[in-house]
Amino acid sequence: MTKTEFKKRRTQLLKSLNPNSIAILTTATEKFRNRDANYFFRPDSDFYYLTGFKEPEAIALFLPQKNGGKFILFCREKDLLLETWNGRRAGVEGAKSEYQANEAYPISQIDEVLPELLENKTDIYYTLGVNEAFDQRVLSGLNKTKEKTRMGIVAPDRFISLDPIIHEMRLRKSSAEIACMRKAAQISAKAHIKAMQACRPGIKEYAVEAELIHGFKQAGCQSAYNTIVGGGANGCILHYVENNETLNDGELLLIDAGAEYAYYAADITRTLPINGKFTPEQKAIYTLVLKAQLAAIRCVKPGNRWNQPHDAAVRVLTKGLVELGLLKGDVKQLIKNEKYRLFYMHKTGHWLGMDVHDVGEYKVNGKWRRLEPGMVLTVEPGLYIPQNTKGIAKKWRNIGVRIEDDVLVTKEGHEVLSSDVPKTIAEIESLMAKALQ
Ligand code: GLY
Ligand code: MN
Ligand code: MN
Repeated sequence: MTKTEFKKRRTQLLKSLNPNSIAILTTATEKFRNRDANYFFRPDSDFYYLTGFKEPEAIALFLPQKNGGKFILFCREKDLLLETWNGRRAGVEGAKSEYQANEAYPISQIDEVLPELLENKTDIYYTLGVNEAFDQRVLSGLNKTKEKTRMGIVAPDRFISLDPIIHEMRLRKSSAEIACMRKAAQISAKAHIKAMQACRPGIKEYAVEAELIHGFKQAGCQSAYNTIVGGGANGCILHYVENNETLNDGELLLIDAGAEYAYYAADITRTLPINGKFTPEQKAIYTLVLKAQLAAIRCVKPGNRWNQPHDAAVRVLTKGLVELGLLKGDVKQLIKNEKYRLFYMHKTGHWLGMDVHDVGEYKVNGKWRRLEPGMVLTVEPGLYIPQNTKGIAKKWRNIGVRIEDDVLVTKEGHEVLSSDVPKTIAEIESLMAKALQ
């Protein structure tokens, strides 16, 4: 992402703020995994979106002003000893020269500087409740400003959440963001193909996971979320992440994995037969989920509402379940009474972007939001028939199928960003047959 892109975002944010206000944004906090071992630090998505700044312990302030406004960054100071231990820091000078902050201060000075910056402002844009420790510091900063009202200083008297402004911006992806998302999907697709080729009876789920992680890392990426590699019954557990069981001949394997490229996520699921050939029952369920997915993807176009892909998927799935004898009754009634939820208990998708479950409202003024070019969503119907499902013939049990693609809304309709991963039964069986030779 270029410096110009970050600047453009800040300019847009500054334009949306009330005059005489200040916006405060913190990055993520470092998380301990266990004694002396940290999780790899990832900046907060909103914070990175506006600043491009990757270090922990940083706060950004935005002040709308006549001359285009001000961006102030508080960050860690340069410290040769600590940098030797824990890595490079931009420091206050770097914040200005590399990250284009108009002003920069050591993070240790925030409690002194913030009350001064709050003077004579009317509104504070700050999302309370995300970082409770920092909430307290903002409130005590505000109290310090209030103490000066006797001297004629005005203190802000209104908090406004920053989330809606930034999240509406993030919901509509720019062409630079779309390029990153396309790349994340392509890198993920390659890794999924490798995983399909590596799959065979007798190996462990984590051996398949290793192929995915290898593919992501080779391209300089992290996983965008915990990879799901579930064989047989494990494919029916929606958030299965243990990935430590053996893959059995004759069962299915569900893989849900996506790379994060330049802080943009892919989120892709494929389901494949562990021995390379679908059984008739697996084929029937897979064909139905694929039909539902294609029907849902066809609904992704500007002007359509958020719920349309889901409703289309539910119609196809319910009708198909009745035809297979897995549900009994009138299709319309079964949909109305949500009987399909026995086999399809999640929604058909979510926004996708810097966060895998990305930001942005799904309803506007009480109505499902209309899709617009630049929005990206997943389309991921599935059917899950766990071992203990009552009243279902044995032959259907432990079949779990999800098919998930990443779909960009375009002016003309849509583009499936993850289309490089084989998806039809013929494509999957042919790829696996070649790998198993
Ligand atoms: N991988 C998370 C999801 O599909 O929503
Ligand atoms: Mn998803
Ligand atoms: Mn997924």
